Formats: sequence, structure tokens, C-alpha cells
Amino acid sequence: MRELDLSSESFRATTGRYATGVAVVTATVDGIDHAMTTNSFTSLSLDPLLVLFCVERDSRFHEAITATASFSISVLPASAQPAARWFAERGRPLIDQFSEIPHVRGVQGSPLLSAALCWIECSISQIVTAGDHDIVIGAVEHLLVSDDDDEPLVFWKGRFRALPGS
Ligand SMILES: Cc1cc2nc3c(=O)[nH]c(=O)nc-3n(C[C@H](O)[C@H](O)[C@H](O)COP(=O)(O)O)c2cc1C
Repeated sequence: MRELDLSSESFRATTGRYATGVAVVTATVDGIDHAMTTNSFTSLSLDPLLVLFCVERDSRFHEAITATASFSISVLPASAQPAARWFAERGRPLIDQFSEIPHVRGVQGSPLLSAALCWIECSISQIVTAGDHDIVIGAVEHLLVSDDDDEPLVFWKGRFRALPGS
């Protein structure tokens, strides 16, 4: 066991040992589709049904999510690693960022990535500021699952992975 200093690098190196899934959160504002790769997505409450993700306050997606009433989550399979990288790239063009990414439109209007394992459409219930991020809490409006049995995309120690044996 080694104690690290309390720097952001040590924080990333430590919390990065917690393996997560990877999702793309989408929101449509004034007809423009916004998206962000996220691994902070998590289920929050069963009664009522709530989920959350965290968004850096100093990001383009933060501007979008604070200007809309709804968002959608697409949980990615291992095969969607290129999409995960694309929607994590700062400075990518906003317009037409979905042109190469197969998607359909959810009931609430934001894009759902066709390759995903499941999709969750939410209305925004609450936004809580916490340090340099906001916690966005969504009330679940629609739950959709794929009938394919694809393996999930995993993020661990700062790298995309597939489950061993998949
Ligand atoms: C695996 C992974 C997970 C990420 N999770 C988050 C997250 O939960 N919250 C966040 O604000 N940024 C997260 N990011 C960074 C954003 O995806 C990225 O900064 C953002 O999409 C940049 O685009 P924007 O400037 O248009 O918002 C993550 C990046 C990666 C590669």
C-alpha cells in the first residue's frame, strides 16, 4: 500500500482503478445535437426512477445541458470504442458530429446511438453544483434495451477495454 499526494493526477490514478462502463449522453438544443462521452453515468434511485451523470462546468456540453429540459443516455458496447473516442474529443465540430454515427431519434428528440446496449431518456430533475462539475439528475421517462447480446465497453486505468474473454 502506497499513499499518494493529493494532486489531480494522483486522484485520477486512484479513482481510475474503479472500472466503469461507458455511455454517450446526448441533448438537443434549438435543433442542434450535443453529445459527450461519460463514465460518470450511474443509476441513482428506484422510487422515483432517477439516474445521474457529472459534467465539467467548463465544457461545451455543460452549456447545452443547462439550456435544455431533457437528455438521453446510450450505453456503449465494446465495438463502439471509436464513437466513445469521437464524443470525448474536445474541439470536434458541433454541427454534423453525428453524420458518421448511426443513430435514431428518441421520443424526446435527442439522438440515440444505434449500436448501444440500452437507452434511457430522461427529463432533467435537478442540477447540483459540486466543485468543478455539476451533477445532472434525470427522471427516467423511457427505458429501451437492445435484443443483441453485445459485450460492454469498459474504462479502466485511463484506457478503454473489453471484458476479458469477450
Ligand atoms: C471514458 C471517458 C469518460 C468521460 N466522462 C466524463 C464525464 O463523466 N463528465 C465530463 O464532464 N467529461 C467526461 N469525459 C470528457 C468528455 O467526454 C469530453 O471532455 C467532452 O466530450 C469534450 O467535448 P465538449 O468540450 O464538446 O463538451 C470523459 C471522457 C472519457 C474518454
